[in-house]
Amino acid sequence: MNIPFVDLHAQYLSIKPEIDAAIADVIAQSAYIRGPHVDAFEKAWAATLGMKHCISCANGTDAIYIAMRALKIQPGDEVITTAHTWIATSETITQAGARVVFCDTDEETFTIDPAQIERHITSRTVGIIPVHLYGQPADMDPIMAIARKHKLWVIEDCAQAHLARYKGKLVGTFGDVATYSFYPGKNLGAYGDAGCALTNDDALADWMATFARHGGKGDHVMEGINSRMDGFQGAVLNVKLPHLSAWTKARQHVAAKYDQLLQGLGEVLTPRVGPDREHVYHLYVIRTGHRDALRKHLTTAGVSTVLNYPRALPFYPAYAYLKHSPKDFPVAYANQSRILSLPIYPEMPEQAIEYVASQVEGFFDTSESLLGAAAP
Ligand SMILES: Cc1ncc(COP(=O)(O)O)c(C=O)c1O
Repeated sequence: MNIPFVDLHAQYLSIKPEIDAAIADVIAQSAYIRGPHVDAFEKAWAATLGMKHCISCANGTDAIYIAMRALKIQPGDEVITTAHTWIATSETITQAGARVVFCDTDEETFTIDPAQIERHITSRTVGIIPVHLYGQPADMDPIMAIARKHKLWVIEDCAQAHLARYKGKLVGTFGDVATYSFYPGKNLGAYGDAGCALTNDDALADWMATFARHGGKGDHVMEGINSRMDGFQGAVLNVKLPHLSAWTKARQHVAAKYDQLLQGLGEVLTPRVGPDREHVYHLYVIRTGHRDALRKHLTTAGVSTVLNYPRALPFYPAYAYLKHSPKDFPVAYANQSRILSLPIYPEMPEQAIEYVASQVEGFFDTSESLLGAAAP
């Protein structure tokens, strides 16, 4: 049995007539760059999150960069972010002229550990970028309290967490700016690159919209960048948005079923969800001390898996200049050799979930004698 990691085609087939009509409409209107479909999506997404402004852009990476520029980041400023995320979160800090300061994650949730943020704060710190990684909200109350105490801005990187909630409140509604990615495999995915930034601040919204469109059309009040959402992406997102809630529930169902089927397998830690958080399972990430052997076994059994991510960011060559060692980020470092993302997508058939779980279980049954006493 072959189980893909995600199945975007299955989702397309479930909404094919609507998607085909929406794409045809973009062509009929020649509304290729921004235009009515994108305008409609900006309004709909802002309304979904209860935010005042949604500024669409070309991708989620640009959204973070645009947000930081709007917050008037200066050379030499320092921005704190998590050691365990996709590099878009940190590379944009450097692109914006500031210095990346990594902070370790907590033991349970793969999100930034608020208890460790303050020791990274210096007189040059200007902001914090928590990431709601894998679909689980970061611990926003203490993060916002620290930000208020030290007068720091907060950009929430929500690329993996559409509709996730912390204490009943949607992620993206806590910080100064929220950024989203609509990369095709995301919980709300376009059919190409797309992203946006949201804020309730009128001046920030205006600045971001101007900056992302060459500093103004006809009247260049500044030099900007070219970061626009195209009409096809807006049209696809408009079709998909009404389904997002049901797709989120479907992801949560897959996760609950994995949780149940993998329960009691001593060598596997299933995802832990922090108190008062609603996880939307962009990814379902288990931890085991036998990760590489398990991954090989699953590949042979036809199950696609992914490492999100093979290393914690401070240990990539890109950040060698920061000269970090494993003891600086013990949790993120330990996780990098234990994490394994299992297939998860809303359309995943029950038999596929059961097959994946049975293959994980089978691996530990048959290799029990070979595994020895190593802890997960
Ligand atoms: C945590 C995180 N931040 C930012 C991004 C950047 O989004 P994009 O790929 O749309 O540029 C991603 C997407 O992969 C992500 O997972």
